[in-house]
Amino acid sequence: MDIDKKAWEILCSEGDIKKRLKELGQQLSVDYKDKKLYVISLLKGSFIFAADLVREISVPVKINFITTSSYGHDLESSGSVEIVSDITEDLTSYDVLVVDDITDSALTMKHVMEHLNKKNPASIKSCVLLDKPERRKVELVPDYVGFTIPDKFVVGYGLNYGDYYRNIPYVFIVTEEDR
Ligand code: PRP
Repeated sequence: MDIDKKAWEILCSEGDIKKRLKELGQQLSVDYKDKKLYVISLLKGSFIFAADLVREISVPVKINFITTSSYGHDLESSGSVEIVSDITEDLTSYDVLVVDDITDSALTMKHVMEHLNKKNPASIKSCVLLDKPERRKVELVPDYVGFTIPDKFVVGYGLNYGDYYRNIPYVFIVTEEDR
């Protein structure tokens, strides 16, 4: 579990993230003006991203959380997505924005979008901090992306390694030697 902090390669610094979230927040504030924005954050990974992102949004916004699980404690996706805890509300008339920390295979986002669509939202879009398009198992292009990243194992700013390091305020790469 101890990975050598001295060797961490930072992919997105605190400054990079702050700057990009401001841009995303401004874009969302324009796009969701006069709409009924309802952010649904996927736990656990997106709790930090969602908390910071909504504070950059200047239009009214409701927020709720769904807990999903796909990886367990493995580095690779298990391939099946479980909704561990759901919202109970009907989403009729809301413009839903599903917020996640990363889209990798896209199995999680696709599953959640299909699931929430059954609750009749007026619209549904996705917003991810990190997009790793090289790893797709299902076709999906997130509507809003913080950073498009290469196929590296990334940790920090909500993303975990063995359920630790979510509190690190930047995103760093864990190499083969670290594992
Ligand atoms: C991670 C991450 C995304 C998902 C992305 O969640 O937070 O939700 O995997 O992977 P995918 O695009 O291949 O589906 P994880 O299940 O590890 O749980 P966590 O949110 O608790 O970190």
